[in-house]
Amino acid sequence: MGIAPATFTLGLWLLCACMLSVTASEVDTILIQGGTVVNHDQQFEGDVLIRGGLIAEVAPRIQAPAGARLLNASGCFVMPGGIDPHTHLDMPFMGTVTADDFYTGQAAALAGGTTYHIDFALPLLHDLLQGYRVWKERATRGCMDYSFHMAVTKWTHDVAADMAKLVAEGINSFKFFMAYKGSLQINDEELIEGLNRCKELGALPMVHAENGDMVAWMQEKLLAANVTGPEGHPLSRPPALEGEATGRAIRLAGVVGVPLYVVHVMSIDAMEEVARARQRGQRVIGEPVASGLALDESAVWDANFTRAAAFVMSPPLRSAEHAPALRKALASGVLQLVATDHAVFNSSQKGAGRRDFRRIPNGVNGIEERMHVVWQEMVVAGLSTPSEYVRMTSTAAAQIFNTYPRKGRLAAGSDADVIILDPRVKHTLGVGASHSPRMDTNVYEGKEVQGRVVSTISRGRLVWHEGVLDVAEGSGRYVPLPPFGALFEGMAEQARRAMQLPYGPTPVPRDNDGEAGEGGSKSCSAAGVL
Ligand code: URP
Ligand code: ZN
Ligand code: ZN
Repeated sequence: MGIAPATFTLGLWLLCACMLSVTASEVDTILIQGGTVVNHDQQFEGDVLIRGGLIAEVAPRIQAPAGARLLNASGCFVMPGGIDPHTHLDMPFMGTVTADDFYTGQAAALAGGTTYHIDFALPLLHDLLQGYRVWKERATRGCMDYSFHMAVTKWTHDVAADMAKLVAEGINSFKFFMAYKGSLQINDEELIEGLNRCKELGALPMVHAENGDMVAWMQEKLLAANVTGPEGHPLSRPPALEGEATGRAIRLAGVVGVPLYVVHVMSIDAMEEVARARQRGQRVIGEPVASGLALDESAVWDANFTRAAAFVMSPPLRSAEHAPALRKALASGVLQLVATDHAVFNSSQKGAGRRDFRRIPNGVNGIEERMHVVWQEMVVAGLSTPSEYVRMTSTAAAQIFNTYPRKGRLAAGSDADVIILDPRVKHTLGVGASHSPRMDTNVYEGKEVQGRVVSTISRGRLVWHEGVLDVAEGSGRYVPLPPFGALFEGMAEQARRAMQLPYGPTPVPRDNDGEAGEGGSKSCSAAGVL
C-alpha cells in the first residue's frame, strides 16, 4: 500500500497561531519574512530568500522579488531543516521488513520538519556492493534528500576492497554491530580490521555497542526461567552490557587512531564512557535518540503484549533515571546530536515474538516526531536554546558527515531545507497525528508537546504548509558524502600523543640471540605502524 501520491490534509489546522500567509504562488522563489532566524551560532530577526532550490540571502530585511511567494513567519523560528542521521527505511530485519519505505518514511519526516536523513544500508549476504545497489533502488521511491551509511557484517578482503568503492560512491561512514549474534554481529578482530580500514579511507566508523555474546547468554537464562514476554528484552540487555561494549569500542578506536561514532546511546553507562573518552581528548561522538531522551522502559512491562512489544528496541529503553541524564549530557555537549533510529514494525510484525521476546522485531518510530520531541524536552524544558536545538537536530550531523554548510545552515548558497516552527502551538503526538500510513502504534502516543513545525521547505519546495503535505514520490535525491571530514583533522597527531610514544616504528636493534645490538635498546613504538 502507499500514500496517495500527493496530498495529506491535517484537520484542525486553523488552530495554528502562526498566521502564515501565502500571497503569491511562484514555486521557485520564496521569501520568509519577519521570523527569528536561527543558526547554531546566531539568532536574529530577519528574512530568508529562497530561489532555485538554494538559499539566496539571509538578512534582517529583504526586498520581496517580483512574483515571490511570501510567508509571514512573525512569532516563529526559522531554522535549518532537521537532519536525522540514523534511520532504517525498507530494511529487512529479524525475519521481516521495516514498515516505512523511503516514500512513507520520508513523507512523514517532512511533515515533522526533517528534510534530510542518512539511512543504514545493509550488505546482502555480507556483500556490501550488492547491499548498496539494493538500497539505491529502494530509495528511488523517496521524496527528500538522503545519504547512506553502510554496515559491515563480516571481515574479508572483498569487504575491505568494497569499502573503498563505496567511499568513491559517496558513503563516508560504516557501521559495526557488536550485538545481534548470529546475524549482524562482528567480533573484536573484525571490528579492529574495520576500524583500521575506516581510518585508511577517511570514513567514520559507527558502532551499535552492546555485548552481543552476553545478551545471548542472558536470553537463554531468562527463557530457562520462563521469562518469555517483552520484559525479557530489557532484562537480557542491561545497561552494563551497553557500557562495556561502548568502552571497548572506544578503547579499540583510540588505539587504532580513528574517530568513533556511537549510535543510540541509551544509558548512563554508555554516556559516561563517551564523556570519559572526550575528556581524555579522544574523538568520540555520542548519538542519543529521541526515544531514549523522552521515554523509559515502563511500557515494556505492560500486561498488553501489543503495547509492550511496541516499545522493544535495542539497546532497550531504560529505567527512569537514564533519560534525564542523557538530556543533560546532550545539553552540555557530552553528547552531540539527536537521531531517531526510526525502525517501525506494526503490531502484527511485532506479534512474531508473542511467545518468545527474542523474536519481537526491534525498533520504534520517531522520524516524524523527533523535531517536536527534542524541542519539548530540550527547549521548552529550559535545557537548551534555539541555537543549541539547531546544532543538535541539524548542524552537528551535517558537520560530522561532511556536508556542512550545504546542509545544516541558513546561509546564501546552502540547500533550501528550511522549517518554520511556531512555539505557541500545542499538539499531541500519536498514530492519529502521524503521516505514515504504516504505523498502528506509536511510542509517543498521547504525548503533548508545545511548538509545531508549521512549514517545511525541502530543496526550495514548500512541501508542508497549513496542514497540507505536498510531496512527490520519486523526487528524492541522493547526497554523496566525501571522506576525511573535520573529525579526521589532526588525527595522526592525536594518535601519537594518545600513545605517548616518543619514537618511530623502528624495531629495537638486537642480534640473532636476542641480545642488544648496535645502538642500544631504545624503546620503539607502534605509532608509525598503525
Ligand atoms: O532496535 C533497533 N535499534 N532496531 C534497529 C536496528 C538497530 O540496532 O539500529
Ligand atoms: Zn543499532
Ligand atoms: Zn539503528
